[in-house]
Amino acid sequence: MNLNEEIKKLKEKKEVAILAHYYVEGAVQDIADYVGDSYYLSKMATEVPQKNILFCGVKFMGESAKILNPEKHVIMVDEQADCPMAHMIDAKTIDNIRAKYDDIAVVCYINSSAEIKAHSDVCVTSSNAFKIVSKLPQKNILFIPDNHLGTYLSTKMPNKHFVFHHGYCPVHQDIRMEDVKRAKQAHPEAEVLAHPECSIDVLSLAHYIGSTSEIIDYATKSGGESFIIATEDGVLHKLRSENANKKFYLVNEKQQCLGMKMNTLEKVYDVLNSMENEMLLNEELRQKAQAPLTKMHELAE
Ligand code: 13P
Ligand code: SF4
Repeated sequence: MNLNEEIKKLKEKKEVAILAHYYVEGAVQDIADYVGDSYYLSKMATEVPQKNILFCGVKFMGESAKILNPEKHVIMVDEQADCPMAHMIDAKTIDNIRAKYDDIAVVCYINSSAEIKAHSDVCVTSSNAFKIVSKLPQKNILFIPDNHLGTYLSTKMPNKHFVFHHGYCPVHQDIRMEDVKRAKQAHPEAEVLAHPECSIDVLSLAHYIGSTSEIIDYATKSGGESFIIATEDGVLHKLRSENANKKFYLVNEKQQCLGMKMNTLEKVYDVLNSMENEMLLNEELRQKAQAPLTKMHELAE
C-alpha cells in the first residue's frame, strides 16, 4: 500500500484539509495541504473551505483551530500530542497578578491551554508578538507563559513594564549558550538563526531571531551559505528542500519536540479512516478563549 496515495484519496473523499506545523516529521509535512508557523496555521484554520481539519501538531494548535471555528470538525492525529509549556501557568495566578495593577494587559503566547487563553486579553505568536504588544495602550504587560519570549520582547520595548512568568519550552531551554559557542567554533562561517523561545543568552549570539517560518524565509532569501539552527529540528526538512546548495547545522542532539514527533504518517492514515480524535471544547470556555485569539488576528493585520 502506498500510504501517501491512500492519504490523498481519503482526505479528498472525506473533505479534510490537513494542516501541519514545521516541527512534525518531513513525511507528514509532505502530505499536508498547508504547512507553516503557529500564526499561519491559526489563520488558515479560519480560511480552508473543507468542513474537516486534520491537525498535525500539538493540542494547543488544534484547540485554537476549534476555538476560532466551532462549526468545523477539528481532528488531532494523536490526542496525546501536547506542549508542556501550554500548562505552565494557571488561571488563579493570572487573576492574582492582574488584581495588583490598574493598567495591565495579559498577553498570552498561543502555546497555552484554552483555560489560560480564557483568562487573557490578547494572544500572540512569535511572529506577531512585537507588533501586537506595541499596539496595546497598557504600560504593564503580564506576558505568559513563556519567560524567554517575554524577556526578548521586553528588550525591544523599554517603554513597557513587563511582568514575567517562569514558563519555558523544554526543547529551546535545552539549547545552551555553550552549545551554540561550540557550534560557532566548528562552523565559523555559519550564521546563527534562533527562535525567540531560546534563552536571552542564546539570542545574544544569534544573527537572526524569528518564528519557524521567518527562520526558513531568512535562510532561503539570504546570500549566506551555511547556518546554525537554534530551534526544533523539524524545520530542517523545508530548509534543506528549498536550499539544496546551503548547509544547515543543529546546535545539539536534543532539538526534538516529543509532542510534535508523535504525528506520524501511519497515524494520519488511521485517523483519516476512523475520523476519531475530535477536538471538543466546553462552549462557555470556547467563547471566552475566542476573544483573545480574535483580537490577535485583528491586531496582527
Ligand atoms: P512558531 O510560531 O515559530 O511556529 O512556533 C511554534 C512553537 O511551538 C515553537 O516552539
Ligand atoms: Fe511546545 Fe516547545 Fe514543542 Fe513548541 S517545541 S510545541 S513550545 S514543547
